[in-house]
Amino acid sequence: MNNHLPKLSSANITAHIDDVTGSRRLRRMRKASWSRRLVQETRLSVDNLILPFFLTYGEGVSEPVDAMPGVERHSVDMAVRLAEKAAKLGIPAVAPFPRERAEVKTDDGSFVASPDNLINRAVRAIKKEVPEIGIITDAALDPFTTHGHDGILRDGEIINDESVAMIVRGALSQAEAGADIIAPSDMMDGRIGAIRRALDENGFSHVAIMSYATKFASAFYGPYRDAIGTLGVLKGDKKTYYLDPANSDEALREAEQDVIEGADMLMVKPGMPYLDIIHRLKDTFRLPTFAYQVSGEYAMIKAAGINGWIDEEKVMMEGLTAFKRAGCDGILTYFALEAAQKLQNQG
Ligand code: PBG
Repeated sequence: MNNHLPKLSSANITAHIDDVTGSRRLRRMRKASWSRRLVQETRLSVDNLILPFFLTYGEGVSEPVDAMPGVERHSVDMAVRLAEKAAKLGIPAVAPFPRERAEVKTDDGSFVASPDNLINRAVRAIKKEVPEIGIITDAALDPFTTHGHDGILRDGEIINDESVAMIVRGALSQAEAGADIIAPSDMMDGRIGAIRRALDENGFSHVAIMSYATKFASAFYGPYRDAIGTLGVLKGDKKTYYLDPANSDEALREAEQDVIEGADMLMVKPGMPYLDIIHRLKDTFRLPTFAYQVSGEYAMIKAAGINGWIDEEKVMMEGLTAFKRAGCDGILTYFALEAAQKLQNQG
């Protein structure tokens, strides 16, 4: 009896019920706020937010970045205030990026390793005054080179292994200053392994590595280059070391290499146009996975918001939630303070 019934599995039970009742109602649980809350699958939390910010010289300085309304470059003392604010809101970590002075820039970017550079000064100051917040530092050379590239440029080429050696020196100086996580954004081959070894050999085995594992040669970085003052400086483009935006399998190979070399965490950059990459990375490696919602993404949302073309706050929250749904554990976002405030008000 009942031979005509399909074998029971969750998929065909549903189909069977549809058969019987003729009324599959997917809208049923969407009917009220309480039921929507009950079945919501992804929830953004302040714990998922990392605040990137910009540094400049001076004291008491917070100057606007033209292409990023609401974002400022801060002198170290003001950066400490900013970190305090972030910590108060419950943001777990911050990530400083420096606008270095032209005088300290060289062809090989060696100021990356100076204890006196802006990153290292800020790390020491924040560690001292806001010890509860995590600090993530980038060891790429672009803020420190005369040519704006992330590595050492010779005869029109970025020299991989010499660049890695310099980036390692930068990473060590940042660990020395008190950085908790080294996040190299340069995409040189072998940098994760080299940084891991150097950290371990120098007593920094507790310092973690978040690899900018899949960083694409993207046009979305424009406002950032304005913020750190490399906009007119960069010679050529970064296509010989960043990934081709068209490539997803290659992105997987890049991430795999960084996992093998010892990355604790992976990052995808830019964010929103690369949700498929986030999903593949998370699915494949199961490592803590982050997205960098970069300056151009921020600027677009801000600009449309300012013009009244979109509801900025809603778009911000929707976008951040989408990162999480795609597989992110966290997001580096210039919206971190605003989003944290919004989440606090909701909570
Ligand atoms: C370079 C670096 C970039 C960003 C941070 N570090 C990209 C670039 O200038 O090529 C971009 C961040 C952003 O756009 O918000 N190491």
